Amino acid sequence: MATVRVFALSLFFVALFTGAKSVPFIVLHGIGDSCKNSGIRNFIKILSELSGSPGYCLEIGHGSWDSWTKPLLKQTAIACKKVKKMSDLGQGYNIVGLSQGNLIGRGIIEFCDGTPPVKNFISLGGPHAGVASVPLCGSELICTLYDIVLKLGIYSRFAQQNLAPSGYVKIPIDIAGYIKGCRFLPKLNNEIVDERNSTYRQRFTSLQNLILIMFEQDKILIPKETAWFGYYPNGALHPVIPVQQTELYIDDWIGLRALDEAGKVKFINVSGDHLDISHSDMKTCIVPYLSDQTPIVPRPKLKHSSGWSSSIWSFLLEMFGVHEDLTVLSNDI
Ligand SMILES: *[C@@H]1O[C@H](CO)[C@@H](O)[C@H](O)[C@H]1NC(C)=O
Ligand SMILES: *[C@@H]1O[C@H](CO)[C@@H](O)[C@H](O)[C@H]1NC(C)=O
Repeated sequence: MATVRVFALSLFFVALFTGAKSVPFIVLHGIGDSCKNSGIRNFIKILSELSGSPGYCLEIGHGSWDSWTKPLLKQTAIACKKVKKMSDLGQGYNIVGLSQGNLIGRGIIEFCDGTPPVKNFISLGGPHAGVASVPLCGSELICTLYDIVLKLGIYSRFAQQNLAPSGYVKIPIDIAGYIKGCRFLPKLNNEIVDERNSTYRQRFTSLQNLILIMFEQDKILIPKETAWFGYYPNGALHPVIPVQQTELYIDDWIGLRALDEAGKVKFINVSGDHLDISHSDMKTCIVPYLSDQTPIVPRPKLKHSSGWSSSIWSFLLEMFGVHEDLTVLSNDI
């Protein structure tokens, strides 16, 4: 009995040890949020404990203010530099994107030269195909900026240089204005006919898994299906076209179709408003992709190792799994 227990215990420590060496992840927060906020810190802590993988919040500039005002190309360039400096990511890492942070995540994958490989990309409420309306303004200063933008136009130089969401507002009845004036999303989605870059496609296609989580009651993303790359048809405000019927997918501008046909895309639909994810959905939709146990140090060979690790896994879940339906990120946009 005692030896069995010692054996089980040592396996547990082996699991902890290799767990500590498992693939790290970074979280890119949404607009108006900051790595200092308790919601995001808690979110990362929970994911880290459940997956056994180290997680980092990647901040761009001064958090909230910069997330609103820095153009997304600039935010992406800053993120690229930071990722290269984080030595822990050198062997590859996973990205968890929240809302606007997803576009920066995709920017890191598609645009950055010489960064470590991204393995899994888990996207929560990402405005991947654009949004038809600007998110609600958060603070009075931002609202003043909005007023100016509304006068000058979302695709004006002023808006593009001073209001981050203008980089992914796609007005379905002004596609020409969008293609010409919008500085970020048309590039990220390889939408501009003469400027398509196959490198973006090639890099995006190298993902092992792409997890696209849509919130069934999302009232921030218009339409909510943008989280799955679904969008309105050009020139009309209805109905939403399912992702598989969009040009981006059919002509495979960024490799989404290639990934999907290789069985690497999971389209997930969870109940809740924007980013309002429950503990149980975090466990089933996110954690499995962060717990990739690809060991960096060789792992001791164990008989029936999968059985053992799954029981250790359920033990760990038991240990850390609390409050099934407590939501974590209720204040994030
Ligand atoms: C495509 O993008 C890559 C990565 O940013 C860049 O190195 C390359 O010059 C681009 N190619 C063209 C034709 O613009
Ligand atoms: C999302 O899930 C709900 C409940 O399971 C279902 O009724 C709805 O049709 C699903 N939506 C999509 C787009 O799959």
